[in-house]
Amino acid sequence: MYENWKELEQSIIHCQKCKLCQNRTNIVFGTGNKEAKVMLIGEGPGADEDKEGIPFVGKAGQLMNKALTGLGLNREELYIANIVKCRPPSNRVPEQDEAQACLDYLRNQVVLVKPKIIVLLGSTALKNILGKEYGITSARGTWVEKKGIFYMPTWHPAALLRDENKKIEFWNDLKEVKKKLENLV
Ligand code: URA
Ligand code: SF4
Repeated sequence: MYENWKELEQSIIHCQKCKLCQNRTNIVFGTGNKEAKVMLIGEGPGADEDKEGIPFVGKAGQLMNKALTGLGLNREELYIANIVKCRPPSNRVPEQDEAQACLDYLRNQVVLVKPKIIVLLGSTALKNILGKEYGITSARGTWVEKKGIFYMPTWHPAALLRDENKKIEFWNDLKEVKKKLENLV
């Protein structure tokens, strides 16, 4: 566990802890306000993120940004990271050994940011953070409190591109996040 961001970021730059290191262009560490009350966790970098080294800059990310700014949740007030920091080939779901190898970095990010709220974007984030027993279809939209952090599971933004109904549910889930944020002491 690193006590500061510089050490943590340095430790990741040359990481070879899993096979995803073989095809990456850039590590996608995370971005945003390092003292954010709200943290968003996705799955892993896609092609655009791999190219730029920044999470959620592609199509799904742009859609998510629109929803966030529409609700007055600006990316500057949030911290955004992924379960795995390197792009899985053909955007496949990260395998168990890859997620496991990478999770310590994310845990370290959570310790440093100290968010009050964590939004879990999709099944991969949900299962790796809260546990395999959770399923996104039934868990989404409902708060889970653990060790003083409120977790809101919701759809992964890429799923919204394929399904209009999910857009509405995603919007409602983010509205809950906004409400909770406003009511935090
Ligand atoms: N999908 C993710 O899960 N994360 C990103 O950073 C981009 C797309
Ligand atoms: Fe290291 Fe994570 Fe990249 Fe795997 S995905 S090589 S554990 S930074």
